[in-house]
Amino acid sequence: MKKTIYLGTNTKMYKNIAQTVCFLRELEQSIQDIDRRNLTLFVIPSYTALQAARASVGSESILIGAQNMCWETEGPFTGEVSPLMLKEVGTDIVEIGHGERRRIFGETDEQEMRKVKCALEHDFTALLCIGETDSEKQSGRADAVLRQQLEIGLSQVGTMKTGKLWIAYEPVWAIGTGGKPVPPDYVQERHHTIRACLQAQFGQAGTAIPILYGGGVNHENASALITLEGVDGLFIGRAAWQAKRFADLIRQVLEAVENR
Ligand code: PGA
Repeated sequence: MKKTIYLGTNTKMYKNIAQTVCFLRELEQSIQDIDRRNLTLFVIPSYTALQAARASVGSESILIGAQNMCWETEGPFTGEVSPLMLKEVGTDIVEIGHGERRRIFGETDEQEMRKVKCALEHDFTALLCIGETDSEKQSGRADAVLRQQLEIGLSQVGTMKTGKLWIAYEPVWAIGTGGKPVPPDYVQERHHTIRACLQAQFGQAGTAIPILYGGGVNHENASALITLEGVDGLFIGRAAWQAKRFADLIRQVLEAVENR
């Protein structure tokens, strides 16, 4: 059986409701001819666009995710969004611990752990993002940082729950316009570290958790990245924000996997 490939984008704090709907419709149109049997596609728009996003495309075509979530279901948590509210609008995935949440908003591994636990309890797919900063990389601590982010972030996940857990490895130094190009060998090594950690935590169940790569993915490097051993998918930012370009990237990735 062929392996499933995971491809998705987080549109960050770009795209309003109308732009999100337009993007999703255009994307769906542009990929109509693509064989979807071994491909899982997802788009993670802003909170305000979630409901319209869900209404504009079916889950069987494109999964819709939220960029963050509170670990409580209700209460005096001004500015937070509850898992029940995300359920109400038909969200499939909850993204947790993106580098920007950790770095700019000071989220900790303990907070990510509570969010992962809560997301799985509410039957979302929990997409935990992990990744080292430039200085952690420079000081040779990348693997130690990844291990810690996984050990704490996933400490409340039982083996039974791993079926709805995805990991995205996103080195902070590779993300966004200021990001540095990422050497494929380096990605492969980190993916091995992550897989070993997941197996240590969950045994056999740890072998099936998808590990996506994200950070500076573009049309030039996507084929090389997706064909690395241990890379199960790509989590794309800027290079996926135009529907036609995202569709091209999807085709390119599938072709690269086919010819591997
Ligand atoms: P980028 O963003 O592809 O634009 O570097 C990736 C991300 O932040 O997930």
